[in-house]
Amino acid sequence: MAIEIDLVPSVQLSKIANSEKHGENSPYFAGWKAYDENPYDEITNPSGVIQMGLAENQVSFDLLEDYLEKHPEASIWGTGGPGFRENALFQDYHGLLNFRKAMASFMEQIRGGRARFDPERVVLTAGATAANELLTFVLADPGDALLVPTPYYPGFDRDLRWRTGVRIVPIHCNSSNNFQITPQALEAAYENAESMNLRVRGVLITNPSNPLGTTVQRAVLEEILDFVTQKNIHLISDEIYSGSVFSSSEFVSVAEILESRDYKECERVHIVYSLSKDLGLPGFRVGTIYSYNDKVVTTARRMSSFTLISSQTQHLLASMLSDKEFTAQYIETNRARLKKRYDMIIQGLKRAGIECLQGNAGLFCWMNLSPLLQKPDQEGELNLWKTMLHELKLNISPGSSCHCSEPGWFRVCFANMSEQTLEVALTRIHNYMDQRNR
Ligand SMILES: Cc1ncc(COP(=O)(O)O)c(C=O)c1O
Repeated sequence: MAIEIDLVPSVQLSKIANSEKHGENSPYFAGWKAYDENPYDEITNPSGVIQMGLAENQVSFDLLEDYLEKHPEASIWGTGGPGFRENALFQDYHGLLNFRKAMASFMEQIRGGRARFDPERVVLTAGATAANELLTFVLADPGDALLVPTPYYPGFDRDLRWRTGVRIVPIHCNSSNNFQITPQALEAAYENAESMNLRVRGVLITNPSNPLGTTVQRAVLEEILDFVTQKNIHLISDEIYSGSVFSSSEFVSVAEILESRDYKECERVHIVYSLSKDLGLPGFRVGTIYSYNDKVVTTARRMSSFTLISSQTQHLLASMLSDKEFTAQYIETNRARLKKRYDMIIQGLKRAGIECLQGNAGLFCWMNLSPLLQKPDQEGELNLWKTMLHELKLNISPGSSCHCSEPGWFRVCFANMSEQTLEVALTRIHNYMDQRNR
């Protein structure tokens, strides 16, 4: 007999459980749901929804599979490395030393060898989601504020705010200077927070940016570092897309700037990284906090007890990332494939009469559909988003879900599908534009 459940429970839950700060009531997540209910498949459901709202990297799976085939010792017990029992019992929150070493060296390699990372400062977390939340817990108290440039990754509304009680105050960026962060915008956000009586604890940037697909320029990074130093606050640099920069020389990590400044004021800087995007392994949940602040490293490591990476995963990735020949080849091929995809979508959209922000990184492009808006506001943008989702059957993310203050911009992901599916999506857009222009 089925268990009957009282649909209106009288027992109370916590404020966090009842809060709406999880950020899931957004078109960003609604679009995912629409895809889940009617997913496109070339053969079984050719008129289904194509998922272009998911920043996944599936273009280099074959390289990972090839590695695993050639190196069974990485994923099978008994041949070299720790045995099954040793690994099954391992749960030290420092993580496996050979994995931390491999991770630090992979982070250096991704940055073209222009930055150094000390394995002793690598704190392991279950993905960048956990890393960002954990850092927020360590740096800020409930009711404090973090300044975040817009447009930003919609998940931050959940990761930085929901359980921590911390507020996000936007640093408004716009298309007049290609959405670059300016000292004026930083100052305006700071003053805005102060006018709301919020204590600002830090600035969080993503470099390369999600959703813009652009890297933050060296001069801008210098300005941001000067700003946080002057205000005596923290800087979190989420560099989760660093391996997706099409040309390594176009990426400047905050680690490089600190090195050039002889690590002056470095204790306020913290880097977040994960293998979800660069290796295309979001399901493995492998992230890290790299902090230049000893107290943050110790506290974050303690707190990482809540969000550890399985020892089995660490063992596998320690083996893979220690193989320098493999990682060098992987990084180069992955970058070239992402650039090819990027060119394919940009040119396809151009042929349809659609412009995008000039990007140099990432798994997405930032598409300007403002000329198509019937009303030049957020409502107009959401109406167009609905047309895209329900008529064209394309799930793309409206700029407003990334808190973009200018209506009409959309994030379009291109690396989570085959080239054929991308062609289908581009054809749907072409046909729509043709119809409109008739
Ligand atoms: C900027 C940014 N930070 C963090 C994350 C979360 O990544 P992870 O899968 O490592 O938790 C994402 C995922 O899309 C992201 O775009």
